[in-house]
Amino acid sequence: MAIPESFLDELRARLPLAAVVGRRVQLRRVGRDLKGLCPFHAEKTPSFHVREDKGFYHCFGCGAHGDVIRFVMTTENLGFLEAVERLAREAGLSMPKPTPEAAAAAAREARLLEVAEAAARHFAERLWRREGEAALAYLRGRGLADETIRAFGLGWSGQGRGAVAQALKAEGVTVDQLVAVGLMKRDDPSRPAVDLFFNRVMFPIHDRRGRVIGFGGRVLGDGQPKYLNGPETALFSKRRTLYGLSHARAAVAAGAELVVVEGYLDVIALHQAGFGGAVAPLGTALTEDHLAELWRLSSAPILCFDGDAAGARAALKACELALPRIGPGRTLRLATLPPGEDPDSLVRRGRAHLEAVLGAARGMADALFVAVCGTPAPTPEGRAAQRRRLEDLAGTIRDATLREEYRRHFRDRWFAASRRGVTERARALRPLPRPKLVPERASAARERDVLALVLSHPSLLPEAEEALAGLAFRSAPCERLRAALVAEAEAAFGLDSAGLIDHLRRMDLRDALDAVLGTRLSALPACTLPGAAPGEARAAFFQALAALAPERLADEIAEARARLAEEFTEANERRLIALVQAQAAANGAGELEEGGSPLP
Ligand code: UTP
Ligand code: MN
Repeated sequence: MAIPESFLDELRARLPLAAVVGRRVQLRRVGRDLKGLCPFHAEKTPSFHVREDKGFYHCFGCGAHGDVIRFVMTTENLGFLEAVERLAREAGLSMPKPTPEAAAAAAREARLLEVAEAAARHFAERLWRREGEAALAYLRGRGLADETIRAFGLGWSGQGRGAVAQALKAEGVTVDQLVAVGLMKRDDPSRPAVDLFFNRVMFPIHDRRGRVIGFGGRVLGDGQPKYLNGPETALFSKRRTLYGLSHARAAVAAGAELVVVEGYLDVIALHQAGFGGAVAPLGTALTEDHLAELWRLSSAPILCFDGDAAGARAALKACELALPRIGPGRTLRLATLPPGEDPDSLVRRGRAHLEAVLGAARGMADALFVAVCGTPAPTPEGRAAQRRRLEDLAGTIRDATLREEYRRHFRDRWFAASRRGVTERARALRPLPRPKLVPERASAARERDVLALVLSHPSLLPEAEEALAGLAFRSAPCERLRAALVAEAEAAFGLDSAGLIDHLRRMDLRDALDAVLGTRLSALPACTLPGAAPGEARAAFFQALAALAPERLADEIAEARARLAEEFTEANERRLIALVQAQAAANGAGELEEGGSPLP
């Protein structure tokens, strides 16, 4: 319904902006403006201005801008009409009577919703009849429980040829209405309309409030196209709709993660496996409207992407779309599926598999860094291009504070990565030691501790690599992981913990990772958790190493001394100190060698 501008003006006049904003934000007068801490982003000094005479607010920090209606929409999470209704009630105004055209359009929409609902009911009935047997068997064969099939209102289209129109005629549904909800089409006005869906499993598509607004259909077994999505109609817009949203809303409110997947069946399978917050776009890339819809429910929804190059490109595209719009309470997380799996196939192997994937989801800043600089360019020109790309990406963030944080994050990681590059080149001149088997008495638990420390603190790798290279582990999964860490030390350059684990998981080391991380994660010392201070983790690593192979530690110390004498860098110094302290701790005395300093 269109609201006359005169009514909105009356509303704005009766409810001064400062009064409405003042309920949420403490305002202080500064010259012509009122000023306060912005409610739309985190800040310590006020940059949120209310210009009463003009009737708008503006935040110089995050760019938030609008009038009293926009303010209520944003802070209360309401649609335009809902916000106007709320304000009208407060102002003691009754809502304007709709114009005859608006009333007619609203009535027409209500009728189409009834038609779509009736058609969905009809398809569902067919599924549970004799004729739906093959479709029902197909859905059950894909692991769906009857309860799930009912909860999502899945159905069977029938054979087409106007049968649906025939059946719904008794309810007063016309062919034109079926065309209008996207179930029939009429290409040639002189010929009768035909069914769009036949011989397909039907997926009703619901809006946020759970009303049927459209349909998708999947062929049984193989056949093209696999999925047919209904056309855009007065009710259904692909750009705006997320499949599963009405179910996900309740689940997310009850604490579930909001997870974006790719397909209808992924949403349904996840829901059934207890991941109630799953939604999917409908055969299109994510849009701005989708993002806005997601952020109404969660400050950091997780997007799930395939573990192939196309998945990586899609992830980068989603980030580029989101960047200008992110803020302190509004970001994305990105999870990568193992190659060849989709969320549906993954949960069918056990929900822990998907949990692990979601648990390893990266923040946008990390995901972007890895996407741009995951493979460091070999030439100065290439590296400059990578830096510029990061700079450009950060530059698209509208929130000023966050833009600065991203720039800093990218710069820090860039320089950390470059420093590692220097170590790399130095190492190339010095061959790694040949591995010696750890002593018999060393327990597999100790081997796991050593690996878990490196996996949760990849920044240790440059210092740990030499020690790891000099050992061969007795437990088979630990040995596979150890060898992989040494071999991949260079590729792991710049990765965070989630990134390193993800990298190894793609190398067919999933079982080894499960054995090392899965079984004992809770029993590991606090310093093995990714949040622990790097210094603590380094000390713990060399101590675990000392416990595992005391002889190896002596070699390490000799080597580290020689290295430091050769090249007096902070990293080399840190390594030697940590080693000597580890040796002291292992000897139980805690005393350092002569002179009290480990330095040569
Ligand atoms: P997928 O091919 O990944 O679908 O397409 P899926 O859900 O894994 O399929 P099955 O049933 O398990 O084999 C993901 C989404 O892309 C759209 C659909 O929305 C689908 O859910 N799609 C796919 C189409 O629109 N048309 C197609 O032909 C295929
Ligand atoms: Mn699938």
